[in-house]
Parts: sequence; C-alpha cells; structure tokens
Amino acid sequence: LANADLRALIADVPDHPKPGVVFKDITPLLASPRGYAACVDALVAAAPSGIDAVCGMEARGFLFGAPVALALGAAFVPVRKPGKLPRAVVETSFELEYSSETLAVHADAIAPGARVLIVDDVLATGGTVVATAELVRRLGGELAGVAVVMELAFLQPRALLSRHGVDDVAALL
Ligand code: PRP
Repeated sequence: LANADLRALIADVPDHPKPGVVFKDITPLLASPRGYAACVDALVAAAPSGIDAVCGMEARGFLFGAPVALALGAAFVPVRKPGKLPRAVVETSFELEYSSETLAVHADAIAPGARVLIVDDVLATGGTVVATAELVRRLGGELAGVAVVMELAFLQPRALLSRHGVDDVAALL
C-alpha cells in the first residue's frame, strides 16, 4: 500500500474535540484489514533491531504498539492514564497547551537495560512521547526509538523531543 493510500484511510475531522483543532481519525484505517496490516508492517520495518519491549500509550497507542510487539517478538508494555494499572506504578506528569496529563506504567514493566521502542498513532506536540520516554528512563530501560503512524510536523514535535534527548523518531506519514 502506498503512503497516499494509507493517508486516505486517516480522516480529518475539523473542530474536534474543540474549535480550531483538526482531529486525525484512524478508525477508517482500523476498518481496513489491508491498510491496518500494511501500517503495522511498516512500523515493524521502521523499528531498530534488538527491541526487547514496546511501549504503547492509552488508548490509540495500544492499537499499533501491541501488534508491533507481537511481530517483533517483544514484550508489550501498556502506558496508561492514572488509576488504571493495579500494581505499583511509576508516574509522570506533563503540561499540554491548557491542561496537565499524567501517564503511568507498572514499576516492574521494563527490565533494566532493556531496549525499548515507543509506538503511537499520532505525534502531535510530542508531550505524550516525552512523558513515555521519561517513564522508560526511570525504569532503567534504554530508549531505542520511537515509531508513529502520523506526525503533525506543523506542531514541531521533533524540536521538543530533541530537547529531551529523543532523536530516533520514525513517522510513516
Ligand atoms: C492522542 C494520540 C497520542 C497523543 C499525541 O492521544 O493518540 O497519544 O494524543 O499528542 P501529543 O503529541 O500532543 O502528546 P489522546 O490523549 O487523545 O488519547 P487517546 O489515545 O486515549 O484518544
């Protein structure tokens, strides 16, 4: 599947969730077995070698991170919103444009020294990836890379990621 075909499976929804924001709706991609499979295959192909664990962020990051982890033969680690994980967690908070968000991971989810890949659907401001990278570091993991389906380059996420030492970023679209 060509990039243009993949792009056509992601719908622009103007003014969601608030006026002025164009929401990237991946549900048509999920509804296309060919498109979804091609997307997962491309994320797997973009992954650095020797990945031990894949972190996917709630909720849409699960949809891409889990199949990528299976294909790589790596552990899948869910990174969740607060209050969801049942055992001891490590949490980090980060500022969004008008609010603050917290993400959590089980404290024993990543073995020290493990090579970790972060996978998500959309890279927008980069705040979610920066927070997840911080969790990986605090657990002693080695961040090997980031792979996303779509990057919203106009929000300049790579500048934020670079300021936080995250430079190995692959975006399919
Ligand atoms: C979306 C998206 C990314 C994040 C990107 O998730 O799935 O995880 O925002 O934005 P950022 O680069 O500005 O941090 P959202 O918070 O909407 O949660 P959801 O996956 O549960 O819908």
